[in-house]
Amino acid sequence: MSLPAQPATRPANPRFSSGPCAKIPTFALEKLADAPLGRSHRAAVGKSKLKAAIDGTREVLGIPDDYRIGIVPASDTGAVEMAMWSMLGARKATMVAWESFGAGWVTDVVKQLKIDAEVKTADYGRIVDMASIDYDTDVVFTWNGTTSGVRMPNGNAIPADRKGLTICDATSAAFAMDLPWDKLDVVTFSWQKVMGGEAAHGMLVLSPRAVERLESYTPAWPLPKIFRMTKGGKLIEGIFKGETINTPSMLAVEDYLLALDWAQDIGGLPALIARCDANADVIARFCAANDWIANLAEDPATASTTSVCLKFTDPAIADGAGFAKAVAKRLELEGVALDIGAYRDAPAGLRIWCGATVQTTDLEALMPWLDWAYHTERAALNAAA
Ligand SMILES: Cc1ncc(COP(=O)(O)O)c(C=O)c1O
Repeated sequence: MSLPAQPATRPANPRFSSGPCAKIPTFALEKLADAPLGRSHRAAVGKSKLKAAIDGTREVLGIPDDYRIGIVPASDTGAVEMAMWSMLGARKATMVAWESFGAGWVTDVVKQLKIDAEVKTADYGRIVDMASIDYDTDVVFTWNGTTSGVRMPNGNAIPADRKGLTICDATSAAFAMDLPWDKLDVVTFSWQKVMGGEAAHGMLVLSPRAVERLESYTPAWPLPKIFRMTKGGKLIEGIFKGETINTPSMLAVEDYLLALDWAQDIGGLPALIARCDANADVIARFCAANDWIANLAEDPATASTTSVCLKFTDPAIADGAGFAKAVAKRLELEGVALDIGAYRDAPAGLRIWCGATVQTTDLEALMPWLDWAYHTERAALNAAA
């Protein structure tokens, strides 16, 4: 087997990690100079920045005016936990998972909160049949399974007249995929995914029905201060205007504002979605042209356009995990792709982030390197045999 020569071109930015993700293409630290560092987040300047982050989020994502948007502690996990601990238990729940993060929410609800829940799961690469769910229960699911690269194709299965709440972890979907707000009562995400922001803060979006639940239901268990969204049975409205529960990083806020500006400059949500689609398409075409690699998502309609997960299909590879690790390591050593090994709980393979901050030209430059790394590793296997 003759080895392919190293490709001549390298990606200008080798950062294809699935979170934290590549910064916006125009990023420079100097652009954060307006951050009110050393000032109280409750001073007028801090409050106005936090409110701008909420308003910008609404504008870019097209979130309805009657939905609340809050900046909350502990990133996406904090936002999901806050919602589940505050709202679940009022009625039966359905917990839906097709990869590691969704499975984590199942564990919380079943083992920690001990809520009466039906659990529906699908293996890596597949998705649960969302039409089989009883939407008069509260349904918790992940829009895009970051560790399997499988996403909801749309929200068509969710009825408008549901009695339960839909709680959706959309951290690797927001800003990349169309989210049908009328079908979603709670949506969570963080800044370090599609927007390439900094980690630490979560975004919690609540429909009017979610607020109604908060104001009409008190869980049987105690709620820590960082989860509490009501006082005396009324929503604490300040949280949804930028009066955060505890102290945020104003540097991270400034960075998120910069990313929102960039998003608006390039054309808003349609442009962000188009960038993700074009990025994922580069990999889809590469898979179609090579019989040794395939998308982990079995149905192309459910294939993620952000966290694209790949498996090696060459039957000659006995140690799938070892092979995938060796390929990822080779690419990292060459400085052409960083952090693209599959998630620790996921099947062996690669995961390449295709979110909006990644340049399509960088993915195009990466593909020949993937070919090179695969063939080089295969040759090493042959030599060892
Ligand atoms: C689907 C999903 N949910 C939750 C998380 C946890 O996010 P965070 O670290 O922002 O809490 C991740 C992180 O990758 C994720 O992909």
